[in-house]
Amino acid sequence: MDNIMNSPAYKAAREKAQELLKKLTLTEKIGQLSQFGNSIYSSEEKIYEDHFREGKVGSFLTLRGAEKTNKIQSDLLEMQRTPIPAIFADDVIHGYRTTFPTPIAQSCSWDPELTERCDAAAAKEAYAAGLKWTFGPMVDIARDPRWGRIMEGFGEDTYLCSQFAAAAVRGFQDNGKTPLLACMKHYAAYGACVGGRDYNTADVSLETLHEVYLPPFKAGIDAGAATVMSAFNDVNGVPATANHYLLTDVLRGQFGFKGFVVSDAGAVGELIAHGFAADPKDAVCKAFSAGVDMIMAGDMFNDNIPALLEEGKLKMEDIDRSVLPILTLKYLTGLFEEPYVDPDGEKIFFCEEHLALAREAGTQCAVLLENNGILPLKNVKSIALTGPLTHPCGQAHLLGGWCGIADPSRTVTIEDGLRAAIPDANINVIPGATFVHMDKEDIDAIASDAAGSDVIIAVVGEENGMAGEAGSKADLDLCGSQEDLILALCDTGRPVICLVSAGRPLVLSKIKDKVAALLNIWQPGTEAGNAVADLLTGKVNPSGHLTTTFPYTVGQVPIYYNHPSTGRPASGRWRFESKYMDCPIEPLYPFGYGLSYTSFEYSEISLSSDSIAADGELKVSLTVTNTGDQDGAAVVQLYVRDLVASRVRPVKELKGFKKVFLEKGASTRVVISLPAANLAFVNSDLEWVVEPGQFKLWIADNSADERFEFDFEVT
Ligand code: BGC
Repeated sequence: MDNIMNSPAYKAAREKAQELLKKLTLTEKIGQLSQFGNSIYSSEEKIYEDHFREGKVGSFLTLRGAEKTNKIQSDLLEMQRTPIPAIFADDVIHGYRTTFPTPIAQSCSWDPELTERCDAAAAKEAYAAGLKWTFGPMVDIARDPRWGRIMEGFGEDTYLCSQFAAAAVRGFQDNGKTPLLACMKHYAAYGACVGGRDYNTADVSLETLHEVYLPPFKAGIDAGAATVMSAFNDVNGVPATANHYLLTDVLRGQFGFKGFVVSDAGAVGELIAHGFAADPKDAVCKAFSAGVDMIMAGDMFNDNIPALLEEGKLKMEDIDRSVLPILTLKYLTGLFEEPYVDPDGEKIFFCEEHLALAREAGTQCAVLLENNGILPLKNVKSIALTGPLTHPCGQAHLLGGWCGIADPSRTVTIEDGLRAAIPDANINVIPGATFVHMDKEDIDAIASDAAGSDVIIAVVGEENGMAGEAGSKADLDLCGSQEDLILALCDTGRPVICLVSAGRPLVLSKIKDKVAALLNIWQPGTEAGNAVADLLTGKVNPSGHLTTTFPYTVGQVPIYYNHPSTGRPASGRWRFESKYMDCPIEPLYPFGYGLSYTSFEYSEISLSSDSIAADGELKVSLTVTNTGDQDGAAVVQLYVRDLVASRVRPVKELKGFKKVFLEKGASTRVVISLPAANLAFVNSDLEWVVEPGQFKLWIADNSADERFEFDFEVT
C-alpha cells in the first residue's frame, strides 16, 4: 500500500525543500535541527527573541494549544530572516484530550484497526491544538513487566507488535490528510533493558536484535513512518543515540527510512555520562555522525556544529542531508501554506464520536481472567464498591500514564458507569482503601460494610505514575495492602469481582482462586466507567486476550511465551531441567489468554497442504462456532514451531490470528494465511532465511493451548 513517504506530495515537498535549503545560512540550517521545550519561551530573559531572530529553532516540544502555538508561530515567523514555521511536537500516546486505553491495553484487543481508529482520532484532536508531530507509537518489544514503559507498547510479541506499529503509523499520519507525523520509538532495544530497569543497558545478540526488536520498526517504516527517535540505552556497548550501525546502516540502509531521526530527551548529552563522549562537542559529533538529525532539546547542535565543521569533523553535505527531510516534512504537513490553526478546531475535543470510540476501545481491551459465572451481572440489587481506584483520584489513574493533556475530571468513574448502567441497584461506595499500607482494622471495617451487599466490586491496581517512564518496579504484587483487602472481602462470603487497573501485568496469584471474577481492565481512559459497566452487565462480552505473559511470581521474570528451546525443557518430571524449585513452571496466565461469557469451538481444521515451498503459502481453514448463549468475539491464534534449524528456535511463535465476532449459535469459516516468508528467521550471518524442514502448527485460544496440533513441512 502506498504511504505518505512514497506519495507524489512527498516528492513535491522535497523539491520545495531543496530550493529553500539553498537559501539558508549555516545558523539557519542548524536551527532546523534544534528542538526546544517550554523553558525557552517562558524564561524571563527572552532568550527566545535572539533564537527566533537568528533562526536557531526548528521545532518545539510540549508547547500545545491552538492559541499558544499560533502566538509562538507568529512571533517566530515575524522575527526570522528566512521565515520557516516551527513544527510542534508532543507525546500523543493514547489520545490527546479524549484518552483511549493505553497501548498495552489496545494490543489486547487483537484488533490493529481499533488502534488505527484511536490514533486517527487522537491525531485530529492534536492537530486542532497546533501539533503536527507525535512522539509515538512506542514499538519497543517488552518482555519484562518490571519495566514501567511496558504500558506504552504493544506487548511481548514481535509479530503482533509489528501489526500494531503499522496500524498506529497509519492512524496518526492519516494518509497525509491531517497528518500528525508519527515517531517510532525508542530505536532500539530500549525494552531489552537489563532487569527491566529503565535507561539500563541492553545487551542483545545481533540475531535477537534483528529478529525480535527491529521488525516493528521496519513494519512502521513500510507503513510510512516519517520520523524515528533514538533511544537512551546502549546496545551492546554503543549508545543507541550514537550508533551508526543502527541509525545509518540498518535504519536508512536496510530499512529504506527516508524521514529524520530525533534524539530522545537529553540523550545526546547523556553520551558523556555513558562514558562514550568526552564533552558536549564530542557528543554532538558522535550523535550527528551516527545519524541523529534533530536534537531534543536545546542548544547543543547550535553551539557545537559550527566548530565541528571548521575542524573538518563534519561536512556541510552532512548538515544538508539532515535538514532536507525536516524541511520536506514541514512542507508535507502543510505548515508553509498554513502555519496556524483555527482555534475553533479545538471544539473537536471530547466530541461524541471520540467518546464513543473510547468507550468501545475500553470494552475491547479488557481481559477477563477468571469468572465463576457471576459475570455478566444479572438482577443484582445491591453492590458494594471499594478499592483505591474508586476514589476521585481514580479519575486520573484510570487514564494511565502519558496523557499529559488529558482532563481527569472528564473520566467516567466506575461508580458513575455502574449507576448509569444499573440504575435500580443500590450502590454502596465504601471509601478508605489506599495504594499504601492499611491497618487491619480499616480493612476489616471496609469488609464488614461491604458484606451488606449482594456483590462486591473492588477496583485495585496501580496509580498512573507507577508505570511509564522511570516507572520500573522490583515487586509486581498489588502494592500496599490491596491483596489483604481483597482477601478480607472474599472472607465475607460475598462474591468479589476484582477489577485490576494497571500499566503492566501484576502478580495476581494469591487472589486468583479466591475471587468470583477477575477482570484486567488496564487503564481504559476517559470512558473507563462506561466501558467497564458495559462489560460487567454483559452489554459487551469481553474479548481481550493478553499480549504479555502474567507471571506467577516476579522471580519468574523475564518469562515470555516465545523463549528459545533449551536442552532441558521443564516438564516437572525431574530435578535437572530449566525451572525454579520454588514456584510453578508455568506463568499465571499465558500470552494470548482471555475468557469470554460465551464458549467457542474450533472444528474442521484443515491445512491447504502438508508441505509448502520456501516461497509458498499455507492456508489454514477452520470452523469457529459460538457454542454458548451470548454473542461474542473469538481470537483465533496460529502458532508454529520450527523443529530443527541452524539456530535454536523459539518453542512457539505467533504467526497469524483472526478476531471473529459471532452471534450465539452462529458459525463461520475462518482462513488464516501463513506465507512461508513469515517462517524466516535471522541466521548467524544476519540474513533472514526460511530453512526447509518440519514444523508444528497449532490453532489455539492462547499460547499454552495445544488441543489442535498439526505438522507441515517446508521444502
Ligand atoms: C521519553 C520519550 C518522550 C520524550 C519527550 C523522554 O523522556 O523517553 O519517550 O517522547 O521524553 O517527552
